[in-house]
Amino acid sequence: MAIIIRDVAEMQASAGRLRSSGKRIGVVPTMGFLHEGHLSLIHIARQRADVVVTTIFVNPTQFGPAEDFTRYPRDFERDSALASGAGSDYIFAPETNAMYPEGYATYIDVERLTTTLEGKSRPGHFRGVATVVAKLFHLTRPHVAIFGQKDAQQVVVVRQMVRDLHFDLEIIVAPIVREPDGLAMSSRNTYLTQGQRREAPVLYRALAMAEGLIRAGERSSEHVVRSMSKHITSASSGVIDYISVADGTTLEEMDICEKGRPLLISLAVRFGSTRLIDNITLTI
Ligand code: PAJ
Repeated sequence: MAIIIRDVAEMQASAGRLRSSGKRIGVVPTMGFLHEGHLSLIHIARQRADVVVTTIFVNPTQFGPAEDFTRYPRDFERDSALASGAGSDYIFAPETNAMYPEGYATYIDVERLTTTLEGKSRPGHFRGVATVVAKLFHLTRPHVAIFGQKDAQQVVVVRQMVRDLHFDLEIIVAPIVREPDGLAMSSRNTYLTQGQRREAPVLYRALAMAEGLIRAGERSSEHVVRSMSKHITSASSGVIDYISVADGTTLEEMDICEKGRPLLISLAVRFGSTRLIDNITLTI
């Protein structure tokens, strides 16, 4: 069973001791309600580090006022069993008021990259993400941190922050883990009704269709987006928030799919009050 740490000072002291004894620390930041996607990150950390710390913290600062912070699914008992089983040595699960005590005042704002896509739809989201990730890095002192491609923009934002603030650690990106029918695993999938769950694989089908079109020679992002949008709205009750074709490293929107540039095709779609995101990357 993993060692559970709730106290921030204790986490930092343990990480310091591990570092001094020459251990390589791998951290997997999560908000819990773990699924195979999270566990795949822990497996990668296991291969890349001597000691694996999984953090479980539903971070209030990355949720908008009308978002799902209070109803975000939580099950610490199940999470600690799963995280331990997947190879975590430590589970760091601080209380909210230990991370953000009365009078807390410091935030990290990564410019430009956070004004598009998820950042545009969820103002303030990445300010909360960058802030908590920086805090978790200071507390767990990792040599390597694993993030999922599921949150493609989060990876780009965290990488930028790591560069700009001179964090001495390596970021590793893990591929998206999907259900057998293609739906990207997400803690938020539990919000879906049975009917919405049946419809939700349409997102991956639309992304696969986009890849097919581009590989067959389509170069107009507008055409690709229009086909995806038609497919989603005709085959489901999903309401599209955005569909984007962008450069996967700069997040710059691309009107024309250019050869040699990493394409990030991403989308956010609402099924009722549940907002799902997904993406694929490809280079032509
Ligand atoms: P959370 O949504 O719990 O995700 C934790 C990590 O798991 C993220 O790096 C995410 O990209 C990855 N992940 C989620 N679903 C995945 C899937 N289907 N396949 C592969 N990886 C997947 O992302 C967050 O939490 C938070 O923003 C956090 C970074 C913890 C900061 O609060």
